Amino acid sequence: MSFFSYKDVIEEGDLVLAFISRTDTKPITVTKGQILNTRFGHFKHEDMVGLKYGEQMEGAKGYGFIHLLHPTPELWTLSLPHRTQIVYTHDSAYIMQRLNVISGTRVIEAGTGSASFTHSFARTVGAAGRVFTYEFHEPRYIEAKKELEEHGLTTNTLITHRDVCEGGFEIANIPANFVSKNGGIDADMVFLDLPSPWTAITQLDSVMSKTSKVGVCCFSPCIEQVQKTVEALQEHGWINIELVEVSGRRWEARKDMIRDMGDVVKRLKDIQSRRGKGIETRKRGYLANGKRQLEEETDDSDSGVNKLPNTGKGFNPFGRGERVKEGDANYTWRNVTKVESEIKTHTSYLTFAIRLPC
Ligand SMILES: C[S@@+](CC[C@H](N)C(=O)[O-])C[C@H]1O[C@@H](n2cnc3c(N)ncnc32)[C@H](O)[C@@H]1O
Repeated sequence: MSFFSYKDVIEEGDLVLAFISRTDTKPITVTKGQILNTRFGHFKHEDMVGLKYGEQMEGAKGYGFIHLLHPTPELWTLSLPHRTQIVYTHDSAYIMQRLNVISGTRVIEAGTGSASFTHSFARTVGAAGRVFTYEFHEPRYIEAKKELEEHGLTTNTLITHRDVCEGGFEIANIPANFVSKNGGIDADMVFLDLPSPWTAITQLDSVMSKTSKVGVCCFSPCIEQVQKTVEALQEHGWINIELVEVSGRRWEARKDMIRDMGDVVKRLKDIQSRRGKGIETRKRGYLANGKRQLEEETDDSDSGVNKLPNTGKGFNPFGRGERVKEGDANYTWRNVTKVESEIKTHTSYLTFAIRLPC
């Protein structure tokens, strides 16, 4: 299993993202003897072995199901254990394209936090690129390092335990395969997600590329932080400073059934006729004299007496009757959209700037 490539069949020890619902995806490492418990039933890890990534898996008791997904940075962002606020995909995707992060790019990131964005950087820059990520909080550094190792990302990602505002970004014993052909870190892109990016900006000169354009993005929730960041960027020769706020929204597209007046009239007639025959009362299991009715007597499903006149549609579009599948060709539909009320987003201001080679 790797975030760089795709494999087909799940083996013991693999990372699987168990898609339970749109708002609940759980990361699991397939381990014999362990069970994933969900509100839709429980799922034995050992039964996952041999299944294909993407497959639907039935619960151990024969009810409920989950989907077993292959990890990607985007799905990881939705399922990772939160140690901090994280950068979500609508921001990370925008930042990547805006600063042209591609295969081979050399990235500096601080702080690592929950390593949400680190996974996206690592996948995008690929084998030819490098990610230098820094975290000063020791337990978070240890957790992120372990995760990057387990996910096979340390081939192109180096995590350093450091306060970058105090100690800067230089790394003394930088592994040979992380040294640029121009020497040292030689970054083309810098991403700062820390409380005081303006202090880190002053530390960047020695680690940035001297031969190519360098882009920076500072991710800050408050406008006061942005003001200080912009001042620091201006003082240190950064240009094209721009502020962006990405507002993520997911639109739901679906079909809504168009019902006509004829349907309304038929439905009202049906209610009246049922009332007249006391069927509504009997349906609830009682006779007019208050005694409990036998089940068979109350079952009017086959009688035909209380059914709507045959509309040719075979159901009552206003409630009772068969369920109709969205888009069923026997009915008239219109396309509608609805905005999802809840979307996970860490609304921050993105301050972009570039530095040209001197
Ligand atoms: C909001 S989190 C970063 C989240 C990360 N971008 C992600 O997507 O998961 C900010 C992190 O920066 C770290 N941090 C704050 N100041 C720092 C500094 N001066 N040097 C290094 N790390 C720092 C914090 O410990 C915290 O873990």
